[in-house]
Amino acid sequence: MIGRMLRFSIFGESHGKCVGVIIEGCPPGIKIDVKKIKAELERRKGIERLSTQRREKDEPIILSGVFNSFTTGAPIVVTVENKDVDSSYYEKIKDTPRPGHSDYTAKIKYFGFNDYRGGGFFSGRLTAGIVIAGYFAKEILAKAGVEVKAYIKSIGKVKARNLSVEEIFNSKNSFCPDEENFQKMIKEIEKAKKNGDSVGGIIEVIASSVPPGLGGPFDEDLEGDLAKAFFAIPAVKGVEFGLGFKIAELRGSEANDSFIIEDGEVKTKTNNAGGILGGISNGMPIVARIAFKPTPSIYKPQKTVDLEKMEEREIKLEGRFDPCIVPKALPVVEAMMALVLADHLLRWLSWKGFMNLGEE
Ligand SMILES: Cc1cc2nc3c(=O)[nH]c(=O)nc-3n(C[C@H](O)[C@H](O)[C@H](O)COP(=O)(O)O)c2cc1C
Repeated sequence: MIGRMLRFSIFGESHGKCVGVIIEGCPPGIKIDVKKIKAELERRKGIERLSTQRREKDEPIILSGVFNSFTTGAPIVVTVENKDVDSSYYEKIKDTPRPGHSDYTAKIKYFGFNDYRGGGFFSGRLTAGIVIAGYFAKEILAKAGVEVKAYIKSIGKVKARNLSVEEIFNSKNSFCPDEENFQKMIKEIEKAKKNGDSVGGIIEVIASSVPPGLGGPFDEDLEGDLAKAFFAIPAVKGVEFGLGFKIAELRGSEANDSFIIEDGEVKTKTNNAGGILGGISNGMPIVARIAFKPTPSIYKPQKTVDLEKMEEREIKLEGRFDPCIVPKALPVVEAMMALVLADHLLRWLSWKGFMNLGEE
């Protein structure tokens, strides 16, 4: 379960009946548009012409917590059925773990009782539940004017140029506002695909108009909560905020963001901190970058072991593989950011309400 006041947990398996999400603590009275949930799930299919992934309709089924198109305040349960499933291949390779996948570690952790079909609970398919929960969180944030947007910062070694927050939010290209470099990124994915290989990349995610005061020190740290949520996304191997690892190369005089007054509000001249100071939002855009590894499933032969015979083996995977996870992960990253921020917003508002008690 992620979150305190707004909490959610995902369930299901890649080749089971369905995947889904349970959301608790969502305020009542939020208008729900199932078409918008479906649109978010469609975004999770990435750049369709580049992927040879399984074809699922991804029709969200709301089982509870929504009545007459409004949230009721009761736990929300939403599922998405699995239809396009063929598990026969996974029976054949159940003792030969696929490199880069969770097959080996899951078998150890669950004493072999884990559902190994299509990666089971570890599959990227489970991110459908995260995206659905993210829709509810985005609706909560919208009431406070907060928006979250993710774009592809890099694919392999091809990087987008530096972009302003306005360019990122106003872009018509839903994958990357830097059209020129985006075309180069697509070529990079095509090159990997042609070689039976895969490629990774970095997603940058920005939250705008976040009020100052969300988060806290120690276990309430906003960076900590966001980082944990981002790392819970399969294939994530790195997370940084603001200048991130580069800040370690600077002097304090270069790294510190000077305070200024802009339109009567306290802002900072630069945003090297990525909108978070002392684990608390400072009113500047929250900026995070998330590094994804190359898709583990590739067509090239790889070395593995037979866990029954304890012998080394070669494995050549069969199936439908997407050469790059990054485009599909954009709505997942946005959802995680929105969920953590909505949780902290609700927590902050409860204190704000308390401070205002008796003042009206
Ligand atoms: C949206 C999304 C889709 C994914 N799709 C695939 C996929 O089609 N093939 C694959 O090999 N891995 C895919 N993954 C990644 C694996 O699920 C992940 O690498 C694997 O479970 C091992 O976990 P780890 O990389 O976090 O260690 C996907 C991840 C995400 C976030």
